[in-house]
Amino acid sequence: MKVCVIGLGYIGLPTAALLANRGYDVHGVDIQKHVVDTINKGKIHIVEPDLDTFVQAAVKSGKLKADIKPAEADVFIIAVPTPFHKSGYDIPTPNIDYVISATKSIAPYVKEGNLVILESTSPVGTTQKVEGVLKESGIDTQKIYIAHCPERVLPGKIMTELVENDRIVGGLTKEATEKVSEFYKTFVNGEILKTDAKTAELCKLTENSFRDVNIAFANELSIICDKYGIDVWELRELANHHPRVNILYPGVGVGGHCIAVDPWFIVSDNKEEAKLIKSAREVNNYKTEWVIEKIKNEALKFEIENKRKPKIACMGLAFKPDIDDLRESPALYITKRLINEGMDVLAVEPNVEKFEEFKLYNYKEAIDKSDIIVFLVGHKEFKTLKINDKKRVLDFCGVKS
Ligand SMILES: NC(=O)c1ccc[n+]([C@@H]2O[C@H](COP(=O)([O-])OP(=O)(O)OC[C@H]3O[C@@H](n4cnc5c(N)ncnc54)[C@H](O)[C@@H]3O)[C@@H](O)[C@H]2O)c1
Repeated sequence: MKVCVIGLGYIGLPTAALLANRGYDVHGVDIQKHVVDTINKGKIHIVEPDLDTFVQAAVKSGKLKADIKPAEADVFIIAVPTPFHKSGYDIPTPNIDYVISATKSIAPYVKEGNLVILESTSPVGTTQKVEGVLKESGIDTQKIYIAHCPERVLPGKIMTELVENDRIVGGLTKEATEKVSEFYKTFVNGEILKTDAKTAELCKLTENSFRDVNIAFANELSIICDKYGIDVWELRELANHHPRVNILYPGVGVGGHCIAVDPWFIVSDNKEEAKLIKSAREVNNYKTEWVIEKIKNEALKFEIENKRKPKIACMGLAFKPDIDDLRESPALYITKRLINEGMDVLAVEPNVEKFEEFKLYNYKEAIDKSDIIVFLVGHKEFKTLKINDKKRVLDFCGVKS
């Protein structure tokens, strides 16, 4: 069987490489020529453990070829980005332009009996729109099988989770759900959960909104605790001894390209109904602003007492601990804001070697040279650091608790 994978990023490339190693003939497509060229050399353009081995083996065996154009296949998998339009103070709205243009690009190659699978995280109704685009291109969509199969892998563990995670398959018809489920069964060890396309779309958005709402609760609590002079980490620990309470960790906001993005796909379509989900997004965004104000106040106090501006160590830039991913990262946003407002900042990110926008410091050097140490991300390196009592410490991620 031949599979055409559209979009060779964090999701598409691991999927293409896995399928090729399982014996499928894979035609990978990406609009970026350097991505195509890198893969055809058996190399990778993204950081993900074990992916290089899979890609190298797949390309060497001739089972994986990358191209800037699609080709005829039995199965088409769409794994292109689904960001949102940032539109000032309005509610961000989903941008499904990449999905639509990927669908248009495969239309000339789709024929009777093919499977067309949308893996991109999508607002409710997108799979139906994929069908609409194919219909407009003259394809009899009664004779093909279209389904949404959302991806839930965790970066850093993608090669394992692609096989082991349970998968949801939501077809536009029952036959599509069945056919696409049979395809996933050939390489997934997890359970295949069958539903319809709309439920599958909302399920993925629900999972990430659930996380966002729960993190918002922890973040709101941290602000309330600060007002009372209560240690939120101790409070959380105590409350979680209740057998039915499980409060998550507060932090400096919510980042990454999933949890900070996907809830808006529900809110933008349900302005009246999605009150809690919207509030959670606002609470998590507000937490980032609150952290900036806290740091600025501490800097001002230092300046008044010492008649000079403090040096501030910003510890961690990634969107969560122990990764190098800076996408939608509130820690990076905070650090940039402080630098742009003229603060003397020593930025630290042990998981990133080089950063183009400003200098990165070794964490020990930053701690030695700074007056105020701000922990933004709970990286493992920071947990055991010894800090001189004379330094002022602001710990927003509980790494020192
Ligand atoms: N990365 C994750 O951990 C993760 C997890 C779950 C779900 N998702 C979802 O999967 C989807 C893909 O995410 P990603 O992280 O792989 O994105 P990515 O940005 O890493 O990769 C997408 C690739 O698609 C290519 N592309 C864009 N338009 C194209 C087109 N018309 N034809 C061919 N290629 C095209 C881009 O050049 C890029 O290389 C998104 O909807 C995302 O929300 C991602």
